[in-house]
Amino acid sequence: MEENKKTNEQAAENFAGYDDEAERLREQSESAAQAQEDTKAPADPDSILEVRHLKKYFTLKKTLAGKPISTLKAVDDVSFKVHAGETLGIVGESGCGKTTMGRTILNLYRPTSGQVFFEGVDIAGFKSAQMRPLRTKMQIVFQDPYSSLPPRSTVGGILAEAARVHKIVPNAQIKDYVLSVMEKCGLRDYYYERYPHEFSGGQRQRICIARALVVNPSFVVCDEPVSALDVSIQAQIINLLKKLQKERKLTYLFISHDLSVVKHISDKIGVMYLGSMVEYGDKARIFDNPMHPYTQALFSAVPNPNPDEKVERILLSGDIPSPANPPLGCKFHTRCPRAMEICSHIAPQYREYEKGHYVACHCYAQED
Ligand SMILES: Nc1ncnc2c1ncn2[C@@H]1O[C@H](COP(=O)(O)OP(=O)(O)OP(=O)(O)O)[C@@H](O)[C@H]1O
Ligand code: SF4
Ligand SMILES: [Mg+2]
Repeated sequence: MEENKKTNEQAAENFAGYDDEAERLREQSESAAQAQEDTKAPADPDSILEVRHLKKYFTLKKTLAGKPISTLKAVDDVSFKVHAGETLGIVGESGCGKTTMGRTILNLYRPTSGQVFFEGVDIAGFKSAQMRPLRTKMQIVFQDPYSSLPPRSTVGGILAEAARVHKIVPNAQIKDYVLSVMEKCGLRDYYYERYPHEFSGGQRQRICIARALVVNPSFVVCDEPVSALDVSIQAQIINLLKKLQKERKLTYLFISHDLSVVKHISDKIGVMYLGSMVEYGDKARIFDNPMHPYTQALFSAVPNPNPDEKVERILLSGDIPSPANPPLGCKFHTRCPRAMEICSHIAPQYREYEKGHYVACHCYAQED
């Protein structure tokens, strides 16, 4: 791997003497053409979820005529695939677009552009009515188990309602079915008649997981599902998610700040910075050989269980720029310890560096 890596100097040499604006425009039109070309390709039959060039921009300001004059690029041209039964962990600092991406994939936010293939069908343009039959297959577990449960319904009522609305089993069998899902999620049967406020955070999160699973999904977005919980409870919930995944061949998009948790649960990792995916690949590759300078800095902060291996902590200087006004060129150049002249002018392309390992950085070969 090391021998293939281009040094900063080599990469800088490649780009020496280019014409700034002309080069930037050429790169932009090439990426747009590539995105256009990619839309024609059929969905990957081996992936339950395939996201291509997904964008979600929020309009911050409009003219009186309704024309957007200021937009925030919360998710900016993200692509990846997930196989059935796998967990893709998504990491990145606060505000990098993890939640927005999860919600846009589920069509809870309408994508600005791009494709989202779920089980081979592009659902990115689906209206609410088209999404309805898919809602049972695609679920979400939120970070805050306190505000995400209706306070006036019993646990049984919450779970039975979801099963009834989506006609998961005949009405006469709903209670037995709900009790069986509760048992799988570690909830006692007498909780059926109780209200959410009677439970601790960990138990509430089990109820949220049961509510997601009661409709029998195949794909679940877990958005920071343990970060509001005590550390002692976090492991129980993670183990529950793993057990349920194995039993039901669930696929997770697991969003978390906590790299140790992500390392424990994920098969693949996606690293986001200011709305873009900067690195993506198998967990072992990303943890053992992070390539992108942002991933290297992020992962250098993870405590190493082996005291003989010294990992130098990389401290990033500067604040995260605003996604409403991201830096030109590589969005990370204002904080990157390896930044070169080219980086402040031209955005690096997100390329497959080795099979299944993608990275967006000028330090690595960018030519086709
Ligand atoms: N509905 C909205 N309208 C406008 N801007 C939004 C909206 N939702 C999110 N944003 C902005 O989009 C960016 C990405 O937000 P998002 O919540 O997706 O980040 P995140 O990575 O999940 O952060 P955290 O780790 O704090 O949960 C942020 O700058 C946020 O302020
Ligand atoms: S991460 Fe960005 S700024 Fe840093 S070397 Fe790579 S392209 Fe340049
Ligand atoms: Mg979030």
